[in-house]
Amino acid sequence: MTQTVLKIVDLDASAPFQLSETERDEIHHEMSHYPDPRAASIEALKVVQRHRGWVPDGAIPAIAALIGIPATELEGVATFYSLIFRHPVGRHVIKVCDSIACHLTGYDELRDALIASLGVRLGETTRDGRFTLLPICCLGACDRGACLMIDDDLHGPVEPAQIADLLEPYA
Ligand code: FES
Repeated sequence: MTQTVLKIVDLDASAPFQLSETERDEIHHEMSHYPDPRAASIEALKVVQRHRGWVPDGAIPAIAALIGIPATELEGVATFYSLIFRHPVGRHVIKVCDSIACHLTGYDELRDALIASLGVRLGETTRDGRFTLLPICCLGACDRGACLMIDDDLHGPVEPAQIADLLEPYA
């Protein structure tokens, strides 16, 4: 049920960036689905994120070269798409919906309870590296507000009192 980061390839941000053979193979596989390589941009970024937990700066030119598009264009995609993480994140990412329907169904209380439970503010990672807490716009589950996602798992409606039990399985 929980998302798994497949393998940490390289956490040394100062080392020159290289796509792993597995990443290259998976990006080529994604490219094979589309006549225009641009269409594979997001999936290619997701491949790197799945293996490393985030997308380091050095990955942008490496992926762009593989796809055959300008690095600036891929950087634009990576910046625009909020589910591509450009900084290291915790083992699990909590995305709490701050859009209107969830605002009306308890977002403020849910956010405050998450902040109190985790001891971090929005945008921060717990000291043990277990969770990153991020706001996100509508998760497409407005009838389940107030809602949040942990990795790929949607939860809602979530009451503040449920948070401890909700987080427990995410080690
Ligand atoms: S407003 Fe929260 S899921 Fe749509």
